[in-house]
Amino acid sequence: MVIKDKVIKAINKQINAELYSSYLYLAMAAYFAADNWLGFAQWMKVQSREENAHAMKFYEYLLERGGRVTLSAIEAPAKEWKSALDVFEAVYAHELKVTGLINDLLKVAREENDTATESMLKWFIDEQVEEEANAVAIVEKLKVIKGFANGLLMLDHELGERK
Ligand SMILES: [Fe+2]
Ligand SMILES: [Fe+2]
Repeated sequence: MVIKDKVIKAINKQINAELYSSYLYLAMAAYFAADNWLGFAQWMKVQSREENAHAMKFYEYLLERGGRVTLSAIEAPAKEWKSALDVFEAVYAHELKVTGLINDLLKVAREENDTATESMLKWFIDEQVEEEANAVAIVEKLKVIKGFANGLLMLDHELGERK
């Protein structure tokens, strides 16, 4: 089945959203690195790389279906946050937004009877469950830590293990 224009447009929009996510997490990595929180920075760098991989998954899928990839400007992310908790609350809020975007994309695929796109999106739906859970888990830890140095150092160490 030839891929429909509406689906092509929606996937291109999602490529931009994933690249923005990658950019946002890279900005967060730089924010942490500037204050020498290298574990938090490492976690964010890995997260940024994963978002780039998400963009590439949509990119490859669109090409495979014979659709044209159209890249558009990526919005500049914020560069300052108030605290580690502030950053991870922003991560959680952002992931909720992305889940909404994936659901919108699923709606377009269904309206256009595009079962292949619907099937491809299943991976992303499952991935968002994980992304939201990861963000919440770190937010909860930071709430327990309440900004105390000992807890922050331990969490920095733990998150720095991410490969
Ligand atoms: Fe993503
Ligand atoms: Fe994500």
